[in-house]
Amino acid sequence: MKTRQVGSESAREVADRRSIYTSHYNQQALKGRKVAEVTIFDTTLRDGEQTPGVALSMQEKLRIAELLDELGVHVIEAGFPATSEGERQAIKAIADLGLDSSICGLARSNPADIDVALGCDVDYIHTFLATSDIHLKYKLKMTREEVMEKAVAAVEYAKSHGVTVEFSCEDATRTEIGFLKDMHVAVQDAGVDVINVPDTVGVISPEAMDMLISELLTVTKVPISVHCHDDLGLAVANSIAAIRAGARQAHVCVNGLGERAGNAALEEVAMDLLAFYGVEPLVMSKIGSTCKAISRMTGYPIPKNKAIVGSNAFSHESGIHVHGVMGHASTYEAFGPEIVGMSRAIVMGKHSGAHSVRDKLKELRLDIADDHIPEIVKKIKELAESGKTVDDAELVALADHVASRELREERVKLKEFAVFTGKGITPTATVTVEVDGVSNTVSQVGIGPVDASLKALRSAVDENLVLEEYRLSAITGGSDSLAEVTVLLRDSNGTGRLFVGKGIGSDIVQTSVDATVEAINRQYSMIKKGVSE
Ligand code: KIV
Ligand code: ZN
Repeated sequence: MKTRQVGSESAREVADRRSIYTSHYNQQALKGRKVAEVTIFDTTLRDGEQTPGVALSMQEKLRIAELLDELGVHVIEAGFPATSEGERQAIKAIADLGLDSSICGLARSNPADIDVALGCDVDYIHTFLATSDIHLKYKLKMTREEVMEKAVAAVEYAKSHGVTVEFSCEDATRTEIGFLKDMHVAVQDAGVDVINVPDTVGVISPEAMDMLISELLTVTKVPISVHCHDDLGLAVANSIAAIRAGARQAHVCVNGLGERAGNAALEEVAMDLLAFYGVEPLVMSKIGSTCKAISRMTGYPIPKNKAIVGSNAFSHESGIHVHGVMGHASTYEAFGPEIVGMSRAIVMGKHSGAHSVRDKLKELRLDIADDHIPEIVKKIKELAESGKTVDDAELVALADHVASRELREERVKLKEFAVFTGKGITPTATVTVEVDGVSNTVSQVGIGPVDASLKALRSAVDENLVLEEYRLSAITGGSDSLAEVTVLLRDSNGTGRLFVGKGIGSDIVQTSVDATVEAINRQYSMIKKGVSE
């Protein structure tokens, strides 16, 4: 099995070096215990795909496998081959990618399942059989002896084909300890490479997990893995407890996907291992982008307040917090967002104060005079009263509006505008604008009518204006609905300043052009009155 090397630094030294600001009590509580080496077994494509409502296409599965490989995942459980022909094709295609990660197929403990998994060219087989009395009585209707015999036969059969074999006693955390230990010894004697301990129904506590793994280690000589479900919200805590007790591998799913309440979240387990034990099991900086990409593909949005990768995870709104973070991030952050490829956000809302607004404006490179700040703060709070937070584009609009209200005039006028589009036709827009009375006509093509129009407009006025953001939202329902367009332009010629324009109308192309003209006029009014850089 491929593993990631762990350095000789202590957890404290790693934390200090990586800007991790966790509690000093963690070190005390460890009492000299050190986590040596951990491998990450990702089951997003198997247990994660069993999440109600998730169904991935072949292309999406391939892309997810590539992303997991780039993230440094050691084993990718690519699917459950016995389920369907489509599943087998996808697993085989993933195995054929030749990734660094081991590619695993799940198989029940019978030769037929193992054969179809082998037929997918996987180099790793994860086979399982339930061992708890509940499952034996109500599901399998088998005796313990029969279960042990079947498991041993399956491990021997899979091993005889030269692949890495992992065995799971399904519902291990509700299996009687004597029988569980006997099962571990039996599959170990049969040649298994890794034994997994699934908390199938998410019913164990971290203390009990610690005890269970310690007990199993008295007889288990191969690496122990752990597979925790989140039914009681403890999947990550239980995975970490197992690793602290000596388990060497964690089964995880990106964004905590998985059956019912999900599995231990990859991003949380990885970050906790780094924060508490100085172990870096993955390419940490790729975590944010991987979680976002997989959220898009699975259609499962990341909750805003999700640990590590939620959009609020590094957002600060209240004046006190923003002031603190500006002084030093450790005041209100457990670790620097850059560690996991995320970024800090200062959000404007009802708790924002003058400090946060000023800092945020500075970050957006808007130089607004101090005497305008109280009015901007007042407007943000008014908007917040009606349940709205103010994002970057809206703050720019607000600040710009307050600061340049008296200065603005329409130096740029749209005189003519036409757009030509249709099936099999390259969208082309022609605009005539008058800048300080001088007329200019330009045509441009684009990927759509909006793109072509905005390109034509910017070329007619100023090539240095870069379209930074374009947002379109329907205000009312129906095909004749009103749309609100927000355009954020950056003046790339030296200042890098942002200018926002908004338009509302039922013709999306015309409204986009109006919003862009408004943003351009804001930029021109700044130039004319020589507002300081
Ligand atoms: O939760 C579980 O027990 C499983 C097994 C297949 C390991 O997913
Ligand atoms: Zn599971």
